[in-house]
Amino acid sequence: MQTTSAGPYTVPPMQSGPEIILSERLLEAMRHAFGAALPPDADPLLAVSKNPEFGDFQCNAAMSLGKAMGISPRAAAERIVSALNIDDVALPARIAGPGFINLTLRPEALASALDAMDDGALGLPPPPPGARETIVVDLCGVNLAKQMHVGHLRATVIGDALARIWERLGHRVIRQNHFGDWGLPIAMVTERVKRLAEAGRVDLDSLTLEDLEGHYRAAQRDCDADERGLRAVERFGLGPKADAEVRTQVEGAREATARARQALVALQAHEPGHVRVWERISEVTLAACFENCRRLHATVTREATAGESTYAHELAPLVEDLLARRVAEVDDGAVIVRLDEFGIKEPCLVRKRDGGFLYATTDMAGIRRRVQGLGADRAIYAVDARQSLHFRQVFAASKKAGYARRAGGSDATLLHAAFGMVLGEDGRPFKTRSGENVRLSDLIDEAIARAELAVAQKNPDLPADERRAVAEAVGIGAIKYIDLSSDRSKDYVFSFDRMLAFEGNTGPYLQYALVRVRSILRKAHLEQGIHEDSLGGPGRPGLLIAAPEEKTLALAALKFPATLRGAGEACEPHRLCAYLYELASAFSAFFAACPVLSTPDERVKRSRLRLCRLTGRILRDGLEALGLVPLERM
Ligand code: ARG
Repeated sequence: MQTTSAGPYTVPPMQSGPEIILSERLLEAMRHAFGAALPPDADPLLAVSKNPEFGDFQCNAAMSLGKAMGISPRAAAERIVSALNIDDVALPARIAGPGFINLTLRPEALASALDAMDDGALGLPPPPPGARETIVVDLCGVNLAKQMHVGHLRATVIGDALARIWERLGHRVIRQNHFGDWGLPIAMVTERVKRLAEAGRVDLDSLTLEDLEGHYRAAQRDCDADERGLRAVERFGLGPKADAEVRTQVEGAREATARARQALVALQAHEPGHVRVWERISEVTLAACFENCRRLHATVTREATAGESTYAHELAPLVEDLLARRVAEVDDGAVIVRLDEFGIKEPCLVRKRDGGFLYATTDMAGIRRRVQGLGADRAIYAVDARQSLHFRQVFAASKKAGYARRAGGSDATLLHAAFGMVLGEDGRPFKTRSGENVRLSDLIDEAIARAELAVAQKNPDLPADERRAVAEAVGIGAIKYIDLSSDRSKDYVFSFDRMLAFEGNTGPYLQYALVRVRSILRKAHLEQGIHEDSLGGPGRPGLLIAAPEEKTLALAALKFPATLRGAGEACEPHRLCAYLYELASAFSAFFAACPVLSTPDERVKRSRLRLCRLTGRILRDGLEALGLVPLERM
């Protein structure tokens, strides 16, 4: 991962959370206790207690401070505590062990922090105007004439989740689908389809993506000269017959490659015959891509699609610009950008000896367009980790060239949100039985079919059409969630059984947790006339946090804004997943221990209903930020 320059907007801590207040008070107490002797970078080291016996939070600063002051940690802790003024938010601090300071919040303080958060924004007010960023998210990245496979799942699902998270944080998000629609392989398939169409053997109007994939493979085979075979024949003297055979193959391949090169030149010159075929191929590919994305509930549109072809005319001048400003140099006929000053040994190749441009050249043009054209403060790339070196090079080269410089003069933040591979249950790259890449559309079909069975089992009374809609939301949610909930930089194992389980850290579990909340609120209305709108806004009932499960739930709820910001900053959706799972688990424990609708005390009942409603709002918000569909029933 590559975070190269800080944006203008560093995440503000959660404004109202009790830990912020505690943290500030502790620092104040430390300053008071140690005066000028306090190291300038002193940190109260406040952490959530793992064990409720030790209070809600624990301050661990006395350990290192004691050492620095030449006193025992316990003495340091005593000094801090005696200067600590926290009566309004916490019970008197207690010192444990060698010098840990244990802090327990007052229930009223917790309730009032929670009450402040329970507004329209759930503690996430939009960033002030000056801090509102433009974030460009590179996602999906399909290739012309190819089906989307399981690798594109991650680029689409993670990219879309990152876009949604940043949107939810109040920033301006622009998605970019960097469609691989240019270069020799593309010309190769275009040439083949055009030739066959002219011979009446292909009907352009009824062309499908399956057909195209076949043509792509065939064209590639035609061009893949068996040069190695030729060399073997020569070396081992396999005789004139083998020699002739291999030679014709190679000749044919050379011919096919030459035709592809001509086609590329024709495309570059906008020759209408070639362009028409290429556009048709592009249309068929993108239609299938958008359909997959629609089914995945991921926002990838035509407007958000900027193919590599849209950069084609910029590449020659870009390389000239790099050469003229001595950012790049000619090396053995090729043009390279040296990156030693960035600690990267491998230079970035931007033009080959034969004059051809590269994937990296296009991505440099892409950074320039994103930062200087679209105004990106951050450009995030949800792309396979195997492209890490590529992005390190492209980021460094773009900075060296000034293409990442924003209007204000500082560089935009460029980040490769790299992801690992999808593995099968055998721990090897996920493939079909016959060793092919798994088609994304097949995966989606199967997930929905399996979800439909699971939903039918769980709720046999659901009407058939609703069951279908629920199955779609649950099946797709399951696929997305298993992908999002694992640390994106790592590989993960794709398992239908695990992802569709209604228990554990899964999409269905979270969707179901929300469904439970919704059902309680519906019941409150139907059976007791308490409308959920009466639980929010002015005149809302007070919150009473008394039972330990209420407290755990309240503490979990309070973490939402900081978690969402952290997940955005680090581009790590799995943080949000882990959080929602924690919240749903806290809710489950609360619901088991604290009766809601059957509680005789009206004030307690309404407070608990408010906790339900707040949990539901966070779950809904969180699921939406991940790109899962929140459900009312299932
Ligand atoms: N089409 C590329 C591939 O399949 C992914 C594009 C990623 N985005 C980018 N800006 N390079 O590998």
